[in-house]
Amino acid sequence: MFEPKMMKLMQKVFSLHIYEDNDFSRKDYYQACGFKLEIGANISCRLGFGSSVWEAALGLCQYFEKEGIRFTDKKVIELGAGTGIVSILAALLGGDVTITDQPKLLNRIERNVSFNIPSSFKPQVKVRALRWGLDNSLFPSDYDYILCSDIMYFHYNIPLILETLLHLSNEKTVVYFASTMFYGQNVTREGHVTLSQYFQTELVCRYDVEDVNVYRMRLNTPTAVQHPNLQRRC
Ligand SMILES: C[S@@+](CC[C@H](N)C(=O)[O-])C[C@H]1O[C@@H](n2cnc3c(N)ncnc32)[C@H](O)[C@@H]1O
Repeated sequence: MFEPKMMKLMQKVFSLHIYEDNDFSRKDYYQACGFKLEIGANISCRLGFGSSVWEAALGLCQYFEKEGIRFTDKKVIELGAGTGIVSILAALLGGDVTITDQPKLLNRIERNVSFNIPSSFKPQVKVRALRWGLDNSLFPSDYDYILCSDIMYFHYNIPLILETLLHLSNEKTVVYFASTMFYGQNVTREGHVTLSQYFQTELVCRYDVEDVNVYRMRLNTPTAVQHPNLQRRC
């Protein structure tokens, strides 16, 4: 069980503005698990929320470091990966990683992968479109780990995220789900309450100042799982 104590969230080491690059306006550098991570970012409305690193992503990276987590030979998928920082770290920690987000973000994620992953690791990393609730059936249900950070802040996405998690999980899957809890005027809190009806959920780490929680979740036992009556958006 997680024992509350003041945890300080990791920060970027430095940032460089870059020019004449259609994808990125700056590069941010982070240090985690002994790796230097180089992440292209772009503050642009056109790209939505996924064009820079969010606090919960840093919370998850720092949690991996604190716990000495390794993903060696494990099958990992990330939902709503944004820049891809969490998945890139999971790949460097040995995982066979599928990085997913909406189609418009994929080429930037590919570029961030190429900044960080040596070519010998590249077959371990795939970048794919996965729109929650729409593309689920294109993916299997045999992942060892599912990673999520700061993806639950709109009410209408809660049933879609739940549906996607239920599709991708089996009874052995571990979901690490990090969230900044105050987003969406408590949508995030409501979302975690909904997920906890289908997943055994444990708060494993908390960053008080940023209000970031890291949860570890496992699917409830088959007898306890009832498929939700999901209300889909048209
Ligand atoms: C706030 S950003 C978080 C990005 C990253 N996980 C992080 O913590 O830095 C939310 C991400 O969810 C993605 N997203 C939003 N709606 C989505 C949907 N319906 N299907 C798939 N991804 C979605 C966005 O494109 C964006 O990358």
